[in-house]
Amino acid sequence: MFKIAIVSAAGGVGRSTLTASLATLLAQRKIAVLALDFDPQNLLSTLLGSDEISLGGLLPDFLTKKEFGKSALINSNEVACLPFGRANEASLATFEQHLRTESEWLKKYIAQIDYPPGAFLIMDTPRLPSLYARQAMVAADLVLAVLAPDTRSLALVPAVEAALARCAPGRQPIYVMNGLDSTRALQSDLLAQFRSALQMRLSPYPIHRDEAVPRAVANYANLQSLSPDSLVAHDLNGLLNWLLAGPASSLDGRAQV
Ligand SMILES: Nc1ncnc2c1ncn2[C@@H]1O[C@H](COP(=O)(O)OP(=O)(O)O)[C@@H](O)[C@H]1O
Ligand SMILES: [Mg+2]
Repeated sequence: MFKIAIVSAAGGVGRSTLTASLATLLAQRKIAVLALDFDPQNLLSTLLGSDEISLGGLLPDFLTKKEFGKSALINSNEVACLPFGRANEASLATFEQHLRTESEWLKKYIAQIDYPPGAFLIMDTPRLPSLYARQAMVAADLVLAVLAPDTRSLALVPAVEAALARCAPGRQPIYVMNGLDSTRALQSDLLAQFRSALQMRLSPYPIHRDEAVPRAVANYANLQSLSPDSLVAHDLNGLLNWLLAGPASSLDGRAQV
């Protein structure tokens, strides 16, 4: 199984949107995929078409010592999603204490998944620095960091690199820009700056800002089924092709496409 952690140092840049979109695209291509919500906000399943926030999930399973994936949901697009599940302060404190003492907890947990060769796991995380993101980076074969087209994301690139280097020495993330408005000169300039700083590690397919994204969320639908011809759906297909041809094809457990 090929495991991807979606991270960012800035908040609200589209980590969850990207997790849900990539998972849906993989499923549409008949590649087995599990989307795992490792963010206590517990919203990923709603981006995959579920009209209510899931009560069950990874955290309740942990607390009741259920085996992996008992609470996996299959949505209408055949994407399996394991929600984080409902949390409260006390349950989060217990869980986080456990994560602090077992830095490879998530890695071991997902090792129990019996998925076919070539399957993908895509993990959504809270923004860095985060105990959850750290666990996902330790577990991942590939870390995909999401950038907004702004100076904040540019300034935070070293923080992303340092966070990954701390838990996986010698490894580097790859990057994708999300929310690009190419009619704005400043954003195009910033994209050029990101390109010169990150070179081949920045996806050549930035994801444009497109109102199809919030519209899909408002309709409890996923983007690809609601707006298959939108600009952003086109961008996402480009990103996935790039991942499958390059970063996600060069490691053990690679996808067979
Ligand atoms: N490419 C995009 N175009 C327009 N809106 C977007 C795009 N990507 C994300 N959004 C919107 O931005 C907000 C934050 O996205 P989200 O995926 O929840 O970010 P994060 O998980 O990083 O906090 C949401 O309202 C989402 O609909
Ligand atoms: Mg999110």
